[in-house]
Amino acid sequence: MASPSSFSKAILTLASVVLLVGGTSAQLSTDFYAKTCPKLFPTVKKTVRAAIANETRVGASLLRLFFHDCFVNGCDGSNLLDDTPTFTGEKNATPNRNSLRGFEVVDRIKSAVEKVCPGVVSCADLVAITARDSVGILGGPQWDVKLGRRDARTASQAAANNSIPPPTNNLSALITSFQNQGLSLKELVALYGGHTIGQARCTNFRARIYNESNLDISFARTAKSNCSRITGVGDNNLAGLDFQSATLFDNSYYINLIRKRGLLHSDQQLFNGGSTDSFVRTYAKSQSTFFKDFVAAMIKMGNIKPLTGSNGEIRKNCRRVN
Ligand code: HEM
Repeated sequence: MASPSSFSKAILTLASVVLLVGGTSAQLSTDFYAKTCPKLFPTVKKTVRAAIANETRVGASLLRLFFHDCFVNGCDGSNLLDDTPTFTGEKNATPNRNSLRGFEVVDRIKSAVEKVCPGVVSCADLVAITARDSVGILGGPQWDVKLGRRDARTASQAAANNSIPPPTNNLSALITSFQNQGLSLKELVALYGGHTIGQARCTNFRARIYNESNLDISFARTAKSNCSRITGVGDNNLAGLDFQSATLFDNSYYINLIRKRGLLHSDQQLFNGGSTDSFVRTYAKSQSTFFKDFVAAMIKMGNIKPLTGSNGEIRKNCRRVN
């Protein structure tokens, strides 16, 4: 008969096996669809490439879509759901309304992928792959995306309003909001490098260019030329978040910050005499360090609360629950 100690050892072993199996099912992996959808990566990339060839900016929009998904109750494709008369989604939350873009491209990718392997790949994973491809196509780093996320059956406009930081935030609020997602100071600065591509609307940088003093005069002059001081006039006029090269994924975003050419108030907060200055300096000096840290931080962001195992679903159409 087993002694009490070998009995408890056996229980412990069993418990750790259960924990391990449970834990493993909650892990994402790079080869998740290797057998079930071997054509996944080329199918997605082809569609992303065509979309960017048609409009370069959409690569930036697709990267942002992933960020706005992961920060709101995890990377679960919740921000792709359309509002209906009985369902309020995230698309009309303040940070997203008239701003978040690229939904039609996700639709095209989903249709293409459904043709090669129907009912297998989640919309949440498609957004993760699409963000990676967009960065690479625009000149940035490539990495192996971890997969296995499932799609949410619900969305939360309130969570989108609360969890996505506004561009009026000061550094301490930015740090707190990233900390709430388990992301460090370094990861905050590295991820913010996503602003090396894409555009912002005048309404989001008007107060900065007209009222703030920690900005370069010639940069302010250029930005003002397409963004009136008067609220309501040209609110949707656009400027590149990276003043120098808004269609190229490089490290010039950080060089701009050092020259006080951050477009958003929150951008310049990263280099304003505070605890993140040294990271900005490092990335401004070394594009390869930025790329390395950006990749690691994107993978970490992609791990925020995924739905796995039997949670959630694989949506047929990214805009609605099955
Ligand atoms: C505290 C953090 C952040 C704030 C406050 C912020 C804020 C903003 C704002 C206000 C815009 C312009 C929206 C508009 O005017 O319509 C924008 C655009 C953008 N953001 Fe962020 N952002 C943050 C972090 C990030 C992160 C982590 C990423 C990606 C890794 C990212 C990627 C982008 C991209 C690519 C665009 C341009 C999108 C386009 O052109 O369609 N942002 N962001």
